[in-house]
Amino acid sequence: MQPPQRILAVLPPTIRTILSEGPSSSSQTVHAWVRSIRAHKNVAFAEVDDGTARVQAVLKGKGMEAGLTQGCSVALSGTLQASTGKKQAVEFMVETAKTIGACDPDVYPIQKQQVPPAYLRDHAHLRFRTARTAAIMRVRDSLMRDWHDWFESNEFVHIHTPILTSSDCEGAGEAFALVNPIVNHPTSASAPQSSSASAGPSSSQSTSDRFFPHPVNLTVSSQLHLECPTHALPRTYTLSPAFRAEPSLTSRHLSEFYMLEAEVAFVDTLDQLLDAVEKGMREVLHRLMWEHGRGERTRKDLEIIRDHEPADDYGSPHLAAEPERPALSHLINAAARPFARMTYTSAIKALQAAQEEIEGRFEHPPIWGQGLSSEHERYLAAQNGGPTIITHYPAAIKPFYMLPSSADPSWAAEGGEQGETVACFDLLLPGLGELIGGSLREHRLGPLVAAMKKAGLKKEEYEWYLDLRRFGSVPHGGWGMGWERWVCWVTGVANIRDVVAFPRWKGNCRY
Ligand code: 4AD
Ligand code: MG
Repeated sequence: MQPPQRILAVLPPTIRTILSEGPSSSSQTVHAWVRSIRAHKNVAFAEVDDGTARVQAVLKGKGMEAGLTQGCSVALSGTLQASTGKKQAVEFMVETAKTIGACDPDVYPIQKQQVPPAYLRDHAHLRFRTARTAAIMRVRDSLMRDWHDWFESNEFVHIHTPILTSSDCEGAGEAFALVNPIVNHPTSASAPQSSSASAGPSSSQSTSDRFFPHPVNLTVSSQLHLECPTHALPRTYTLSPAFRAEPSLTSRHLSEFYMLEAEVAFVDTLDQLLDAVEKGMREVLHRLMWEHGRGERTRKDLEIIRDHEPADDYGSPHLAAEPERPALSHLINAAARPFARMTYTSAIKALQAAQEEIEGRFEHPPIWGQGLSSEHERYLAAQNGGPTIITHYPAAIKPFYMLPSSADPSWAAEGGEQGETVACFDLLLPGLGELIGGSLREHRLGPLVAAMKKAGLKKEEYEWYLDLRRFGSVPHGGWGMGWERWVCWVTGVANIRDVVAFPRWKGNCRY
């Protein structure tokens, strides 16, 4: 009997495909890695896995398992049959077994018993072979597709924004500077020489010998660039890398991470932006929880991740609060009701009241005019029992591009404000803290120039950005979601270094 028509039949079938076709008398070949092997006198059982699924392979006959060890890659020919065992519905009866790549179990760094995540972070190139990391990678992929689908169905256009940039979007001085190489033109004899040109600050070479004539950084956020297409394509987004030289060695910070950023034109009020963000998050959660196909596979993977969450990392505070560490309940709860919203001013008041109740509750006393620390953020989100949006922070602690609250027609100043605030927000999650930051943008030329001056930025470096305000300016706004923080929250993984293939943090850039 011929096997049914398969997808991309030019490649060997995956275990997922083989399993989906069910038991069959036709012989086929499984290509996979051996995750574990148990040998008895006349039979051996091997758990084999190819990243799409896992199946038990049964090797009947003495010595059939010869050469098969944990970690080796194999081609197993045989048939998929209904299993007589209780643990699995089907198993693969092997007729011939071939080792493709051997693996010495005595020195193989990935052992069968669970190894601590810190050890695996030092072996990031091998940790994809663990059930947990493979499931995390699949969930990350699936979430990315859900968001792309959501943006597409809401008429957003994905833009590939640049990684090399001459601007520092957030102005926090955390940008990695590029070593701007000196180019020795092979044709330099004929190239215009500029020995009289002014020398760069750190070199006696003329600036024309530099690859770029000015300093260049790795981007900290795509926002400023994304604002440009948004003045022609009114809904844009990007899932792009961002780089920050933050020395924070927390479980929430990476030096290289991804940010899901969106920018929308013709938006006058902060509430419109908040409604869009909230709708996006809840609709993506909905897909994840109720959708067949991809959603179903993701839910299974979330359970695998939950089952493999190591005890020593069970510090994941949003799961620690849950007695049975369920894989989905925090997502169901978040999607079930509207997100809490409060202003920064009222958040400070709530924090101060909490501090008065229990002295020393917070290490950092909450003070109007200062940023919220992560203990404050977690407290606020925990109090609200789900995603919490804090709006209208003091202008003095936010970047130059944010629109003053007073320019938002829907803004009604609250009593107790002690200075100017901006039409911005942070979305906080219990256990995690800040997931998203966003704002309305200053779209008026004069006030933007004044804000840049105040922030000490050189106007001439931002002429391109100011042009957006000179030619057909529109009220607009946007937001950026820390992609790895989102994956951490959805999966319940406690440490951000475990949800990215190759994590980079201060002192660590292996590979
Ligand atoms: O709040 P941030 O700094 O906002 C911006 O960069 C805006 N320009 C975004 C926009 O409006 N388009 O960063 C956005 C999010 C944070 O809320 C956080 O989740 C994440 O990016 N983030 C980090 N994630 C991991 N490691 C780091 N070092 C991060 N820094 C920020
Ligand atoms: Mg922020």
